[in-house]
Amino acid sequence: MRGAARREIFVHMTPRESTDADTIAARADSVVKTYGSGDTAVHALRGVSIGFRAGEFTAIMGPSGSGKSTLMHCLAGLDAVTDGSVWIGDVGVVGLSDKEMTRLRRDRIGFVFQAFNLVPTLTAEENITLPQGIAGRRVDREWFDTVVDRLGLRDRLSHRPSELSGGQQQRVACARALVGRPDIIFGDEPTGNLDSRSSGEVLSILRAATDEFGQTVVIVTHDPRAAAYADRVVFLADGQIVRELSRPSADDVFEVMRNLDDEAPAAESGDGEVG
Ligand SMILES: Nc1ncnc2c1ncn2[C@@H]1O[C@H](COP(=O)(O)OP(=O)(O)O)[C@@H](O)[C@H]1O
Ligand SMILES: [Mg+2]
Repeated sequence: MRGAARREIFVHMTPRESTDADTIAARADSVVKTYGSGDTAVHALRGVSIGFRAGEFTAIMGPSGSGKSTLMHCLAGLDAVTDGSVWIGDVGVVGLSDKEMTRLRRDRIGFVFQAFNLVPTLTAEENITLPQGIAGRRVDREWFDTVVDRLGLRDRLSHRPSELSGGQQQRVACARALVGRPDIIFGDEPTGNLDSRSSGEVLSILRAATDEFGQTVVIVTHDPRAAAYADRVVFLADGQIVRELSRPSADDVFEVMRNLDDEAPAAESGDGEVG
């Protein structure tokens, strides 16, 4: 693999060492994820190493089926890795008991997924504060108000999910992830169902979470305009990281996406051996 980089575009290298001034909020180390076995095995991740610096906003992109959701699920401890290791801060996730994992997720991780997972019988406000209640923590009202106002949810707080549009439900899910101020927020296509205005609101609050509150954000997106909000865009193809851009414009992102198919590592190897 080539050494360093041509300006903004470079081949992905192993994550930087963590130092006091440069804390790694989450890290995947040589992560392999294989679904099934034998002839029907699906190699969703083929040795992915990547670190996410604290306070950084990363977008993960790549063709459908390239392993984006799998990587996110492995990072968040929602799916077990086949090989390799995953770290949230300085905690190794592989080998944690269910109970320890649940606690780690509750204390350090926020999620925004496309299927909003809102509780249908609770109001928007109750949904937003539910994780805090479960964790036995007080809700920081000032931050709650900031999040709710920025996401335009003030006059929807007493509505139940069925009384909200898809975009509003997505924003409630986003508020729920933000309100506990987790160290790291994972979003799997958090703007996937949103119109451009709602997308912009969600992305700017994720941007604010990093810039103003030092949280770490990792999202999967298909949208170059969404990716342009990120500090860093990482491209997956066929279960491997193939490119990375630093502070790209939407056009830069679009250009790489267009060329990704040519750059994907050889996928078909009939005997199932992965090099
Ligand atoms: N639970 C599963 N069982 C079997 N195969 C899976 C499962 N989840 C994902 N895959 C496969 O793993 C590959 C990567 O999937 P995924 O991470 O969802 O891709 P992306 O999010 O980039 O579209 C795909 O080939 C997909 O079909
Ligand atoms: Mg996906």
